Amino acid sequence: MTAEPLSLATALASFDTLWSPRVATRVNDYDVRVAKVRGEHVWHAHDDTDEFFLVLDGELRIALREPAGERTVRLPRGSVFTVPRGTEHRPSSPEGASILMFEPTGTSTVGDRHDEVPSHVDATTGHALAL
Ligand code: NI
Repeated sequence: MTAEPLSLATALASFDTLWSPRVATRVNDYDVRVAKVRGEHVWHAHDDTDEFFLVLDGELRIALREPAGERTVRLPRGSVFTVPRGTEHRPSSPEGASILMFEPTGTSTVGDRHDEVPSHVDATTGHALAL
């Protein structure tokens, strides 16, 4: 977090690692994180918190396992979506996307329960930006 305004374009240009969020700023005890994504994340669930997504560029898809069955929501650039706490979900982006997430500080990218984490997914609570 910095006392100066932060350009999200500058923040996103500062790293290339996929599925590895950077903390852009904090709001009370929440992180505002940005990430570059492509391909599939891993099925996981956050038992104690909702997870907010804003698509900055590209298109994000989020597969959801809900009581009524499985469905996938598509979020084109400019879309927001909140995954409810406890809902198993798997983000993906065949073409690649840049996203912003808003969630409590300390929230793991792979949740409290998850399938086996593939090597291309960073299990992290978010990294500091190195600008
Ligand atoms: Ni999640």
